[in-house]
Amino acid sequence: MNRHATPEPAEIRHVAIIMDGNGRWAERRGLPRLKGHQAGVERVRQIVEACPGLGVRTLTLYAFSTENWRRSAEEVGGLMALFRRYIRSEAARLREEGVRLRFIGDRGRLDPRLRQLMGWIEEETASGTVLDLVVALSYGGRDEIVRAARRMAEAVAAGRLDTEQIDAALLADMLDTAPLPDPDLVIRTSGECRLSNFLLWQAAYAELAFTDTLWPDFTVAEFADILAEVRGRERRFGRVPARLARG
Ligand code: FPP
Repeated sequence: MNRHATPEPAEIRHVAIIMDGNGRWAERRGLPRLKGHQAGVERVRQIVEACPGLGVRTLTLYAFSTENWRRSAEEVGGLMALFRRYIRSEAARLREEGVRLRFIGDRGRLDPRLRQLMGWIEEETASGTVLDLVVALSYGGRDEIVRAARRMAEAVAAGRLDTEQIDAALLADMLDTAPLPDPDLVIRTSGECRLSNFLLWQAAYAELAFTDTLWPDFTVAEFADILAEVRGRERRFGRVPARLARG
């Protein structure tokens, strides 16, 4: 056995973030919750900009879940306005930086004006090759899997698909995230240690990292520290440790 073999560092190219804690950040300052979301947008800008320099090729952000529709009409409306403003104000910058923006989630529930802007910016940034930025909007992992199952059932019923052809690869191809790779790391801010219906299928082998920092306080420096810590971990995907396998 080669006792001196060092474990291969975990390859972290796709990071997914549950940006939690905007509401608490605002409440602690006696501000309306929407101010927390506005501060959160500023963090989004900074983290997106930092990704290429940190070796991150794909960044997926959980911006609005299927469960978030249950919040007050005022907060939901405020968030939707914020997303529209983000798309309008960021388009030029994203294009210049080579960022390709796409959305995942159930678009059917979104306001047609927002849907139109989403389609527009996806086309505007389609040639970006530096970073894939994926924003989960009206997104739920279970909902995504249900929609994929429905599409497969329809294909079977129409005679375009045989049940024997259904496997993990085909299901992955039916998800909103296709053809992007699975996340290597899921980060959640604000001290909660749950996935909350985020990328349930895709995060099967992801490393997980939790921080107490509220999203509006999450800095590029802390992001870099988490990446460095996780890259020091050994990812095994169910295999035996590398030092044992090498014999
Ligand atoms: C969770 O914090 C955060 C959200 C529901 C919204 C996330 C949205 C942003 C950061 C803004 C914009 C994003 C993009 C991509 C432009 P919370 O409100 O649940 O916080 P709490 O748990 O403290 O109440």
